[in-house]
Amino acid sequence: MRSTVNHVLSVAQFERPFLFELFRRADELATLGAREAVGTAKGAIMATLFYEPSTRTRLSFEAAMTRLGGAVISAEYAAATSSAAKGESIEDTARVVAGYADLLVIRHPEAGSVARAASVVDVPVINAGDGANEHPTQALIDLYTIWRELGRIDGLTIALVGDLRYGRAARSLARLLTQTVDTTVFLVAPPVTRMAPDVVNELRAAGLRVEETDDLYAIAPTLDVLYQTRIQRERFSDAESYTQACGHYVVNRELMQHLPSEAIVLHPLPRVGEIDPAVDDDRRAAYFRQARNGVALRMALIEWMLQRRPAEVVSSNGHHRR
Ligand code: CP
Repeated sequence: MRSTVNHVLSVAQFERPFLFELFRRADELATLGAREAVGTAKGAIMATLFYEPSTRTRLSFEAAMTRLGGAVISAEYAAATSSAAKGESIEDTARVVAGYADLLVIRHPEAGSVARAASVVDVPVINAGDGANEHPTQALIDLYTIWRELGRIDGLTIALVGDLRYGRAARSLARLLTQTVDTTVFLVAPPVTRMAPDVVNELRAAGLRVEETDDLYAIAPTLDVLYQTRIQRERFSDAESYTQACGHYVVNRELMQHLPSEAIVLHPLPRVGEIDPAVDDDRRAAYFRQARNGVALRMALIEWMLQRRPAEVVSSNGHHRR
């Protein structure tokens, strides 16, 4: 087995220089437009194995690979329509599909499962979400969006709101923020969905200022980024706990009045009531631009994983040319 495979399993593997390199390349790719052939993945095949539902992650990965000139094979409802339904392990499925494709993108409900699959194959594997653990490429998109929207990733005050216990996107973004400087993070969650202590400790150890609060309105005027999340119904063991977690924090017109004029609102989506559609027309509502950024960011990531990255794309600092 190759020991230098570029798996993407956790945000813990990313450091600042790589992030800026990736963001600059994503910007370049974003400017090429939908109809311009890129061709850096020509001849390569990407397999998407999704054991959980997805709109953005699977389709934006597939769009990204297609725009790079590569091909896609997909198991969209892998739990039901792949041989997982007959009891095949994810390791065996990955071993087999690695013989058909040059890159695997896997979403699975069990934490650690994608890493297990990656450990038995010799092609790059991307974790597209493993249970409540990690969603590293979503966090890359989130930080890329902050960089595009605000022109920087440092010196920011960011609120992570909603389901910080089961929300893998919030967990991954929090951990990726350890690569930023002079950052204040407010954790705003109902008691049943508070951020895990290991992540809070990791942020503080990295030098971030971290404060847990239940008063979103009080901190709203200090924010550069409000990162809202859905309560992850599918991860709760009982309906009562889910109900207790719902409805505490809703981004609506009233809350938007308390945000600074230059702040942005992000959400990994889908939303199910925690952002009122009435605020969608506010220019600070950046969540659909965030979703769109997924294609360019994932194009840049695929190039890197396939080691087809143009050599000239190297960054030296984090300043974004707007
Ligand atoms: N943000 C995200 O992971 O969305 P999907 O579940 O639609 O892929």
